[in-house]
Amino acid sequence: MPEVAYVDGSFVPLPEARISIEDRGFQFADGVYEVVAVYGGKPYALEPHLQRLERSLAELRLSLDVRAHGLESIIMEGIRRSGFADALIYLQITRGTAPRHHEFPRPAASPTIVMTVKALKRLSPETYARGVAVISRPDQRWKRCDIKSVSLLPNILAKEDAVAAGAFEALLVDDAGRVTEGSSTSSFCVRDGVLWTTPAGNHILPSITRAVLIQLAADLSIPVRQEYCLLDEYLQAEEVLLAGTTTEALAVVQLDGQQIGTGTPGPVTRALRQAFLETVDG
Ligand code: PDD
Repeated sequence: MPEVAYVDGSFVPLPEARISIEDRGFQFADGVYEVVAVYGGKPYALEPHLQRLERSLAELRLSLDVRAHGLESIIMEGIRRSGFADALIYLQITRGTAPRHHEFPRPAASPTIVMTVKALKRLSPETYARGVAVISRPDQRWKRCDIKSVSLLPNILAKEDAVAAGAFEALLVDDAGRVTEGSSTSSFCVRDGVLWTTPAGNHILPSITRAVLIQLAADLSIPVRQEYCLLDEYLQAEEVLLAGTTTEALAVVQLDGQQIGTGTPGPVTRALRQAFLETVDG
């Protein structure tokens, strides 16, 4: 089955997809993105992803009406062409191609829209059953982490440290010792049976999976507090878990070499994962 690419109005085989070296996404990371999972041919939580994309574009003052542009039909057409039932959509929009000057091009360039559709590689059932190890790293990102910008250097450096340490993810810790989120995931911990997660704001991405899990926790009568926790509180927590489009809901059983809880996925994480899977199947 083919991996599909879409570049500025045309579907092309992925190896043939090209953009200009003067694209502002390439030169300045002047663009935003979304990653959407497709289960059984249906994009998961597409509407919240499109709304977040619209918000990210607005924050960059990048005027593109994704609805008028028919982005949803482009996504559905990409899924159809790929033939994948379970797929991963990567969508990126930049301020377009223009001679390299920091200020916006005047007149505005036409935004570059690219998309790829690939097979969704879900983590193995064993990984979910065992849980993963993570490390902590300083959060060195900018002050607008709520924008899903393609500028991800601090995230990739932290992730690379995690991989080098044999860990799945790096939890980012701000100057006050508080966990913000993972380098490419949201994070939660369970303390005294309460599910804690960093409050929404400029310092974290408004994760779609995080929002789904908060709702599922409410449905399961698990109390939720959207408040900061210190790294020390994560270390002492009964459970820690990660959430994200490709991660789904995943238990953390070790942090900086220290065991979390019993060292196996705990009851809250297991209940949330089960409830999440039901939303996927539904
Ligand atoms: N990452 N926090 C950060 C910093 C992220 O990059 C992501 C997603 C999340 C989870 O968000 P969501 O639930 O909307 O996927 C949280 C994507 C998947 C990526 O960069 O590939």
